[in-house]
Amino acid sequence: MKVRVLLAAAFAVLAATASAQDYPNRPVTLVVPFAAGGPSDIIGRLLAQSMTQTLKQQVIVENTAGAGGTLAINRVAKAAPDGYTILISHVNHAATAILYRKLQYDPVEDFAPIGLATDGAMAIIGKKGIAPNTIQELMAHIKEQKDKVSYAHAGIGSGAHLCGLQLMSALQTQMTVVTYRGTGPALNDLVGGQIDLLCDQVTSALPQIQAGTVKAYAVTTKEPLKSLPLPSMEQVGIRGFEVNVWHGLYAPKGTPAPIVERLASALRAALKDPLVLKRLDDLSTTPVSDERATPDALKKHLVSEIAKWRPIIQGAGQYAD
Ligand code: MLT
Repeated sequence: MKVRVLLAAAFAVLAATASAQDYPNRPVTLVVPFAAGGPSDIIGRLLAQSMTQTLKQQVIVENTAGAGGTLAINRVAKAAPDGYTILISHVNHAATAILYRKLQYDPVEDFAPIGLATDGAMAIIGKKGIAPNTIQELMAHIKEQKDKVSYAHAGIGSGAHLCGLQLMSALQTQMTVVTYRGTGPALNDLVGGQIDLLCDQVTSALPQIQAGTVKAYAVTTKEPLKSLPLPSMEQVGIRGFEVNVWHGLYAPKGTPAPIVERLASALRAALKDPLVLKRLDDLSTTPVSDERATPDALKKHLVSEIAKWRPIIQGAGQYAD
């Protein structure tokens, strides 16, 4: 019996080594947990394009939007651990671990982290026709109008949800929340005037801010951004208001280490690709250093972000089923 178990384990190791050696020999699917046109989609497509060159196999982007990204995360957690289905997710990967009481996966244990990819600030933006012109006026407007103001987010645990939570908790008021499958469609509705407010990653908001199709009020970094002359929330007196939307890549748990390393090295190459760097720079989104685009760095970061967001989310009494 013992011999049979040992033989099976040895065969599994041999099979994994063989599959790692000729990896990838068919297209790789990169699952994006939000709708097309939003920041995760933009970053995912940029990386996929460059990783296609390095891996010499097509990296195909698939959007599996819904439930704050948890549908996509679950899909990848349950995929075959062979490196052909991978995930890009962001701070939602940490936040959903706290918010959802019945997750069908373990956000840390069910994944083989590949590496961090980018850091990105968010901006609080409003439809063009909304009255306030400054963040101070906007805060007074929200306090006065309360649920007459509509606020969009991309599902429980999305960056836009976390930003809205902090805003409403700072102002001690509730707006009317409208949920989308990603901030791509939410931004379209903001530009169209169907909703009042959105906190979106600068990655997708910047072109609209620059075109003047939306009003921009503040950024969610502690310090103001060089590319966007807006105050930070700290600067207008909202202490501790900070949302950094960091994106990372994951494979399912059990993916052979040589395959994970192959993907991590393709990720690091993408983060040095001049075309990717130019586009990220245009969108004021920061590629991480080589040291952070590694499995260990992503795992540490994920665990520390879960610890960071737990008191904030639980303090706000937030949960989802
Ligand atoms: C998206 O791509 O739609 C975003 O990453 C959503 C969000 O987290 O706000």
